Amino acid sequence: MPRFTSAKPDSRLIPLPWDVPLAEWPAEHLVALPRGISRHVVRFIRVGTSVYAAKELIEAAAIHEYRTLQDLTRTDTPAVEPLAVVTGRTTPHGEPLDPVLITRHLEFSLPYRALFSSGVRPETVNRLLDALVVLLARLHLIGFLWLDVSLSNVLFRRDAGEFAAYLVDAETAEMHDQLTDGQRAHDLSIATTNLFGEFCDLQAGRLLDESLDPLYLVESINARYAELWSELTGAEEFPGAELYRIENRVRRLNALGFDIAELDITTAQDGSSVRIQPKVVDAGHHSRRLLRLTGLDVEENQARRLLNDLDTFRFRTNQQDTDEALVAHQWLTECFQPVVSTIPEHLRGKRDGAQIFHEVLDYRWYASQREHREVPLVEATWGYIHDVLSGLPDEALSSTAEVEEAGRRLANPYDPSQGFVDDDGEPMPEDPWETEPSSPASPTGVLDIAELRRRAAGSD
Ligand SMILES: Nc1ncnc2c1ncn2[C@@H]1O[C@H](COP(=O)(O)OP(=O)(O)OP(=O)(O)O)[C@@H](O)[C@H]1O
Ligand SMILES: [Mg+2]
Repeated sequence: MPRFTSAKPDSRLIPLPWDVPLAEWPAEHLVALPRGISRHVVRFIRVGTSVYAAKELIEAAAIHEYRTLQDLTRTDTPAVEPLAVVTGRTTPHGEPLDPVLITRHLEFSLPYRALFSSGVRPETVNRLLDALVVLLARLHLIGFLWLDVSLSNVLFRRDAGEFAAYLVDAETAEMHDQLTDGQRAHDLSIATTNLFGEFCDLQAGRLLDESLDPLYLVESINARYAELWSELTGAEEFPGAELYRIENRVRRLNALGFDIAELDITTAQDGSSVRIQPKVVDAGHHSRRLLRLTGLDVEENQARRLLNDLDTFRFRTNQQDTDEALVAHQWLTECFQPVVSTIPEHLRGKRDGAQIFHEVLDYRWYASQREHREVPLVEATWGYIHDVLSGLPDEALSSTAEVEEAGRRLANPYDPSQGFVDDDGEPMPEDPWETEPSSPASPTGVLDIAELRRRAAGSD
């Protein structure tokens, strides 16, 4: 008799064929979606309108991974959400089967190979690395030692002009109260080794832009991480006359998407010097603010972009003195919702609402430049639907194109680990955002800490 351990049980899972090894499940329960290569048998299963990922693995590992993912969900750290572990499985002949860990399929998420197979610009690779570094730093801040950092174990979601990385594989992870420098360095060295292999693989498959060198790419991870870590946790000492530097530090952290929950400030007896050190920092500075104001729950850089638009709206409608929450409600009903509700039903699987809004803003910026006039939002939305959205690949859920890679068909659409059929398929649909130069209207280089320091210094 299979046993379900779950904090949020879904009764529709119970009648599934748990007495059959996952690799042999009939196609009626499966969905072909792009995913990373894995050592375990992993399948996407559909029950009703929900899609879950199921992974078959030994009991201790399944329970450990379930609990670890629960810790991450509780601390609001980007990771796939665990749903249940099914143990006690046996075949009809009584032979034992490994348990299955079930996680919720992360909507609009992209495994790195699916991203690369439709062609990515060199800047995009940098953005993916930034997203990975932010994820790693966030995990380390809560004492999470991953021990299996790799591109295959991360899912990327579009986040305005950037990406947000989510952890997908916590099998080897350990939760500690706090990590030592040595433990963090160990995780980084695993990241470097794994990513080097993955980039070399992409290079061999001609999926990596020729200007990019795998070794240089992975070496840059260490520098990016070290800078971010010192910005998030490092102590700073300055003369007592330069107290504005406390405010500078807070602003830099906000710009990186973090809030200081606890700042340690110590001053010398005679007040001649001050030392500050963030003790607790929380990610999600912009997304929390947007959620509070509008109820929209979106990624960090999407929130940053939407808040900028909200500020512009407030200025344009001359409501600087009106309560911010009231203006936010007006912006939601007059700007955001009209754009999102204009998107025809059949195109909604291509991007989530906040991403569409961000892309419409970009589109409007280009259209206004080109036509030397301010293009209204609704007109820009129709233009965007026609010129951009209709041609984009689906990213929410299934489309046959998604389970292909660079135009090659998978031997088993449910399992990329089994390789490709040899014939030449149709090429992947092109993503116009990846073929155009980057948008000057998008916030870029969020992780550019040197630039943040320069800007903060300039604003004194
Ligand atoms: N909840 C989910 N949502 C979307 N994709 C998922 C989810 N769970 C797993 N995947 C996909 O399945 C792939 C394999 O999952 P996972 O990394 O957990 O397997 P694994 O066998 O433990 O991997 P490894 O070989 O690294 O040990 C992931 O790379 C990801 O693309
Ligand atoms: Mg994995």
